[in-house]
This record gives sequence, C-alpha cells and structure tokens, in this order.
Amino acid sequence: MASPQVANGNGSLSLKKPSETKGKTITCKAAVAYGPGEPFVVENILVHPPQKMEVRIKILYTSICHTDLTVWQGQNESQRAFPRIFGHEASGIVESVGEGVSEVKEGDIVVAIFNGECGECVYCKCEKSNMCERFGVNPMKKVMEGDGTCRFSTIDGKPIFHFLNTSTFSEYTVLDSACVVKLDHGHSLSLKNLTLLSCGVSTGVGAAWNTANVHAGSFVAIFGLGAVGLAVAEGARARGASKIIGVDINPDKFIKAQAMGVTHFINPKDEEKPVYERISELTDGGVHYSFECTGNVNVLRDSFLSAHKGWGLTVVLGIHSSPKLLPIHPMELFDGRQIVGSVFGGFKGKSHLPHFATQCGHGVVKLDNFITHELPFEEINKAFDLLIAGKSLRCLLHF
Ligand code: APR
Ligand code: ZN
Ligand code: ZN
Repeated sequence: MASPQVANGNGSLSLKKPSETKGKTITCKAAVAYGPGEPFVVENILVHPPQKMEVRIKILYTSICHTDLTVWQGQNESQRAFPRIFGHEASGIVESVGEGVSEVKEGDIVVAIFNGECGECVYCKCEKSNMCERFGVNPMKKVMEGDGTCRFSTIDGKPIFHFLNTSTFSEYTVLDSACVVKLDHGHSLSLKNLTLLSCGVSTGVGAAWNTANVHAGSFVAIFGLGAVGLAVAEGARARGASKIIGVDINPDKFIKAQAMGVTHFINPKDEEKPVYERISELTDGGVHYSFECTGNVNVLRDSFLSAHKGWGLTVVLGIHSSPKLLPIHPMELFDGRQIVGSVFGGFKGKSHLPHFATQCGHGVVKLDNFITHELPFEEINKAFDLLIAGKSLRCLLHF
C-alpha cells in the first residue's frame, strides 16, 4: 500500500506506511506533564494500538487552548491527575483503527474533538443538544472510555493519563472513534487551519451562530479577546452585527481584534465606571448578546449586566474552574435577561463540522488571523509562555 500523501498547505507530506506500525506499540515523542504547572517534558513514550471502536492518529499539527493551561496548572484540585498528556486541538492522519470502526480508515485526514458524538445516546439523537452521554466534556476523565485503561505509557511501562478524550500533545494518540471527525474533502482548508476547528474557533463562532443566533444589525459585547472571544467576533461579524464591543485588560488585543470585526474596544482598567454602564451608553441600554470568554466570575457579572433588559442574552464560554456559583440574584432574571452556557459552540462535531469547514473554506469565517505563531513541537513550553503572556492567539506546534 502506498504511503498516504496529504496536502498540508505547504506542498505535500509523506508518512510512514501504516502497515509498518498497525497493531504494534509505537514509540514516539510526547510532551508529558508530571505535575501541576511543571514544565512539559518532551520524551519518548509508548502508544499502544487502538482497541474496539478506537482510532490511532498521527498528529500533524496541534495547538494550545486556554483550557489546557487551566487544567495543567491544576487550579481545581479534583482535576489533578499526573503524569498526563494534555492538548485537545489537532489535525492528523489516521494510522490505524480498532475493531468495529467503520467511519474512518487508514490515511483519512481528521481532526480531534473533545466533545464527541457517539450518534447513539439520547443527547446525540436530540437536535437541541450537542452533548454526548459517553464522550462529553469531562476534565476529570483520564482513561479510555471502553476499558478504563490508558493507551499511553512511559518507556518503562508506567501509565500516562489521557485528557479531554483527545491528548494531542503527542506524535501519535488514541481516541474513541466518536471523537474523530473526517475532514478530507469538500473544503479548501489547509491542515493548519483545520486544527483551529478542533476547539477555539468552532467554540466561538458556534456560540455566535448556534447558541446566540446573532442577528444582522445587532449589538454584541465580548469579554476576553483570546482566540475564543475573537472567534465570537468573527461569527458576529459574519452575521452582520452592527456594533461589536471587545472588552479586554490587555490593550494589545485591540489591534488584532479590529481585523476580526471588533468595532469598539473597552479596557476595564481605563474606566472609572463599571464596564456594563459604559456598554449601556454605547448601545442605548445594553447589547442584544454578550459573551463571557475569560473564565472570571466578576467578568461574568459585568457581561450579564451589559445585556439589554427585556431581551439581552449572555453566553458563557469561559471555563470557571474554581467552584463558584453564578454571581446573579434570581430576582435579576425578572428583568428579562437570559444566561446560557455554550460548549463547543453548540456544534455536533461529526454532524456539523464538515459543513462548517466548507463555510470557512469559502471565507465566511477568516481563519488565518488566528494562527499567530508556529513552533516545533519540542518548543511546547515556549508556546505556553506565549499564551500566558497574552502574546499568542493560537501557536501551532508541528512534529
Ligand atoms: N477582563 C477582561 N479581559 C480579561 C480579563 C478580565 N478580568 N482577564 C483575562 N482577560 C482576557 C485576557 O487578556 C485574554 O485576552 O481574556 C482573554 C483570554 O484569552 P486566552 O487566554 O487566549 O483564552 P482562550 O483560548 O480564548 O479561552 C478563553 O474560554 O474555552 C475557554 O478555558 C477557556 O476560559 C477560557 C476561555
Ligand atoms: Zn479548547
Ligand atoms: Zn452520544
């Protein structure tokens, strides 16, 4: 069988013949986290063959999302499980499949999704939800769903835990087939840009399109202008929102944000009055849609109050890892504001991503601006530093 050839945006690349590795344990590079906040150790690990309904993929590009940062730092005690391989945004190529997998085969181009779609559970069968009973988001889950064991181990045989159904900071990873979406036709996106659909861009654009259903001419406020917030901006711009107000404590974010649809910028540090009052002035009483993309509970309150009484909707995208309750008095809901959470932008990964990829390929959403840095995989610690310093949106790592 010939080696698969894949267009990667920079020509084509040739991979090892799958038959060389199929059914065998692979030794390859991975970035292993041994403790909360400890630098990643790039070392050789063992990746075991995929079991029933599992897929082993060779990662071509992976990128870092704020959720990797949050859980790696171990902000929430219960999320701590080490050693562990983080990472949940990636594009890659199927190396081999386990028993019973029919949706993908060796050589297919795929992206990893942390919010899987088994297609069979009560949620997957319901159009109203993109949850999945077995493969939904659970940062505490650290083993494979099928048999409760790990597919990774150290060279001397100690298990290494999984993360968010994906664990993409590894040259090869094993996922349940519910968490693998085939995206090798019907779009013109490069592999680099496909990586963005794994989490950040889909989450933000989907929140604007699916969760909020932003309408033309509307007013929008976005709190936190990282990749997720800016993807909301792209989604709102594509829907024809007339005012898109970006709120961020890092003024450098505004330059990039302008290119992605943000029309007004507020730095809370420069304001004497509460941010929601400032937004109310700019929008005749409040926005139609506000999006919380920081994971900060105080920001969530500002975001809620910046929505217009009577009809304003707040969408929560930030991961609030410490156990705090909503900063809202129940009576405040009588003002007619609504609040809702959005996971993976409301997209059902397998059902919706192929069409979304086509739309992105047609330029409905512009992806190129999201990739601000590219580094070799070995420099993963540097990539984390860039995110922590607020310098990167997405830093692509390549093997
Ligand atoms: N007020 C306004 N902006 C803030 C505040 C604050 N108090 N605190 C942080 N920010 C801004 C940061 O300056 C940064 O620009 O929020 C942005 C967050 O961006 P990233 O760190 O790039 O995170 P991103 O990947 O976009 O994820 C955002 O969504 O998926 C979740 O876990 C993720 O909670 C995170 C959020
Ligand atoms: Zn993410
Ligand atoms: Zn399901």
